[in-house]
Amino acid sequence: METKLLTTCAKDIAIAAGLIRQGGIVAMPTETVYGLAADALNGEAVKKIFAAKGRPADNPLIVHIANLSQIGELTDDFPEKARLLAEAFWPGPLTMILPRSSRVPPIVSAGLPTVAIRFPSHPAAQRLIRESCPLAAPSANLSGSPSPTTFRHVREDMMGRADAIIDGGDCAVGVESTVITLLSDPPRLLRPGGITAEQLRDVIGPVTVDEAVCRPLREGEAPASPGMKYKHYAPCAQVILLQGGEDDFVAYVNAHAGDGVGALCDSEETARLQVPCMALGPAEDLEKQAHELFAALRGADERGWKTVYAHCPPQTGVGLAVYNRMVRAAGFCVIPLGKEEVV
Ligand code: TXA
Ligand code: MG
Repeated sequence: METKLLTTCAKDIAIAAGLIRQGGIVAMPTETVYGLAADALNGEAVKKIFAAKGRPADNPLIVHIANLSQIGELTDDFPEKARLLAEAFWPGPLTMILPRSSRVPPIVSAGLPTVAIRFPSHPAAQRLIRESCPLAAPSANLSGSPSPTTFRHVREDMMGRADAIIDGGDCAVGVESTVITLLSDPPRLLRPGGITAEQLRDVIGPVTVDEAVCRPLREGEAPASPGMKYKHYAPCAQVILLQGGEDDFVAYVNAHAGDGVGALCDSEETARLQVPCMALGPAEDLEKQAHELFAALRGADERGWKTVYAHCPPQTGVGLAVYNRMVRAAGFCVIPLGKEEVV
């Protein structure tokens, strides 16, 4: 398939919107990560997304809107708490799970009675939606790979697979949106992202965090969100997450230095490490770490690293989103350091 490379200029967005209206698939920038978009109300078009990504058919997609009036096409029930969250965080990196209207083809939601809705803040995504329709769009990576946060990443994964790719430069947030379900009481966080659990609670009161955000599913356990059960964000290299302070992290990594060993670390640690490393950002700047994470996971493979030691972030604020992606990239391999070290 020929893949058109487009910019965010008005003429190119019009071309992309035309492709969408004809049932094509287009990779578009959003403020979180790049998405692979199709007309959300066209089941045949949505099917192409699953094929292009190699995505399992039971993993539902997020529908992106660019006007609150589009909500009515997607769900018949937009409760008060959803309205409050929309007012506080849309447009932005928040996805809400609500009952699915019969107008949304079942394939979008992998047959679930619910639908995930998000109003992105990226101007190019908004323009594309306004000139076409609500867009079903998962992250624009091949299934299982780290989400693309730069134009180069999307090209690597989607050349020859999408009808077009829109170059929107680097994504501002760098991790995917926060996903919250409003079908449970209290509402439950299913995937942490740029909007934190603390921010959500400030607006709607109690919000629980699904246990599977930080731990693997148990044998036979049904996931609240199908995406939880798949291996995600993983480079080819083996990622090992080290939990402990800076001194313990540096000591452990240096003791395990060797061929093909690299580290994802805090900026403060780079000078002390005796292995090749990539700093995600200062230990205190978790927004920066979120922004750098996926590029660093891809970078580990580009550098030919076989084993990657990553320093575990705190599980609060945006740190929870970074931890959630890292622990999945590591296949839940976490080694506690210091006093509790288990060898
Ligand atoms: O920031 C983002 O959310 C990006 C950009 C492109 O908007 N999109 C994204 O989509 O990350 P994707 O498909 O990679 O992740 C969507 C997650 C998956 O874990 C999926 O299982 C979950 O949301 N999800 C989608 N619809 C759902 C539903 N109806 N119920 C429960 N979980 C759902
Ligand atoms: Mg994804």
